Amino acid sequence: MLVTTSSLNLVFNCSERPMSFDPTAKDLTVAVIGTGTMGRGIVQVAAQGGMRVIAYDEKPGAAMVAKDYIGKILAGLVDKGRVTAADAKASLDRIGIGHSLEDCAKADVVIEAIVERLDIKQSLFQRLDQLCDPKVILASNTSSLPVTAISAKCAHPERVGGMHFFNPVPVMKLVEVIGGLKTAPWVTDALTQIGRRMNRDPVMCIDSPGFIVNHVGRAYQTENPRILTEGIATHPEIDRILTGAPGFKLGPFALADMVGIDVGFPVMESIYEQFQHEPAYAPNPLTALRAAGGLYGQKTGAGWYDYKDGKRVDASLPPAPKKLPQSVWIWPSTSHADLIAPLAELFTKAGLTPETGDKPSDGALVVLCQIGYDLTTAIDDLKLDGKRTVSVDVLFGLKGPRTLMVTPAIDPAMRDAAHALLAADGQDVVVINDSPGYVAQRTVAMIVNVGCNIAQRQIASPADIDKGAKLGLGYPFGPLEWGDRIGPGRVLFILERLHAFYLDPRYKPSPWLKRRVMLGLPLTTPDGAH
Ligand code: NAI
Repeated sequence: MLVTTSSLNLVFNCSERPMSFDPTAKDLTVAVIGTGTMGRGIVQVAAQGGMRVIAYDEKPGAAMVAKDYIGKILAGLVDKGRVTAADAKASLDRIGIGHSLEDCAKADVVIEAIVERLDIKQSLFQRLDQLCDPKVILASNTSSLPVTAISAKCAHPERVGGMHFFNPVPVMKLVEVIGGLKTAPWVTDALTQIGRRMNRDPVMCIDSPGFIVNHVGRAYQTENPRILTEGIATHPEIDRILTGAPGFKLGPFALADMVGIDVGFPVMESIYEQFQHEPAYAPNPLTALRAAGGLYGQKTGAGWYDYKDGKRVDASLPPAPKKLPQSVWIWPSTSHADLIAPLAELFTKAGLTPETGDKPSDGALVVLCQIGYDLTTAIDDLKLDGKRTVSVDVLFGLKGPRTLMVTPAIDPAMRDAAHALLAADGQDVVVINDSPGYVAQRTVAMIVNVGCNIAQRQIASPADIDKGAKLGLGYPFGPLEWGDRIGPGRVLFILERLHAFYLDPRYKPSPWLKRRVMLGLPLTTPDGAH
């Protein structure tokens, strides 16, 4: 589209980068509109990145309050020796206060961080589009609204993109750069460079619900309430298991309480709606009930957990039983003997060397370490005695708390003996009810599958999906990288077992995963056509 710029009276094609726009320019000016939680963080990192900043908020005095706040944060960084006094002063001096949208229009890039309402954002962008020269980039920090919709009323939607920062901005290095349907490539390229100048680590994605990070996060936040709903484990048990061997920093329920169920639940609903009711992203009625009842988490003193003086009330696990079984037999597996070997060593150290026969002796505890299968199906397929058969999740190693799974057929004395044996070296054990993929296997398999679907839908590159999950969600590995570590074939098998058991489309494996398993390729392998 050919436009005439008002100030320079030059003619250029604004789908291409204007000659006069240089994201690396020393005097690049960034305007930030809305100086609340996010806006003030963006102002800080832009100023520390050497750019001039215009901070503006419609609330009179709010931008100045934000600048004072940033001054205190910088002073704290000087005290800790992280920033020199001269750099802190120079950063603060680069922050100017805007008094109107006209002031913001003088910037090279305008970043919006106002209230998350489409109608309000649309009118702001329409106004900015009228005020700003077409070479000025307009970016939104929206976390859940389509960038394409935000720019819908603009005459120049090609200069509108998304720049999604994470809270707290100065701490969280990640920024998602989003191209809407009409965003010109020079705009997303420039936003990526500007993000780097702010000392952020940018990832790029297309305009898709939840972008990368909130999309990947769906698996953790929806699969675990499912596990809870079925009575497989309690929410503190699920949190314990997932923060153990799999290595999550925070359990899904503690995380939901920390974010606030009043914030997290609407995001769940919005992403589910925007994906036209994709079964894998369906919010859970148990979470809905807490949202409806005002049990929002830490901030209300009750959510999934109760809080006393701001601290989570967390009951400790009951002491492990002491009486070991008379003998133990482990189902021999050819597919993952390497994962089972440490369990046999553990039992031997506890004084009970596993039997070596083809079948368990009479009265022996039978231990399975199946991957994907629920225990009931395994007992049925292998014609085992349900009263004395248990299973242990070994996929992520034996760091505690260990997961011991039983069926309704179990003899309680055998269950307790298995618990005693598994806890003999002092590690915690969580006893759960039957589930295809225990707790950890199905949670991680779902994360890998969502990551594969994001790749399959061409929302972002495999590398950016993995980076987004690690930096934005603090996962130990990105979804695709994690799938490759576990083995893509194992992930596919877990999903197939979940799918076969529940007959629920939420577990259908991603085509990305299936193809790479069949071709023997890593999950990080891009598609071939382009
Ligand atoms: P906030 O409520 O802390 O701050 C919003 C600020 O915008 C307020 O100071 C308000 O006075 C100002 N404002 C509202 N309407 C305005 C307008 N029309 N013109 C100028 N200023 C206006 O909100 P917060 O949390 O900073 O969120 C801002 C945006 O960032 C939202 O789009 C949100 O979805 C997004 N976001 C929020 C994250 C968070 O964790 N809080 C994380 C990532 C994105």
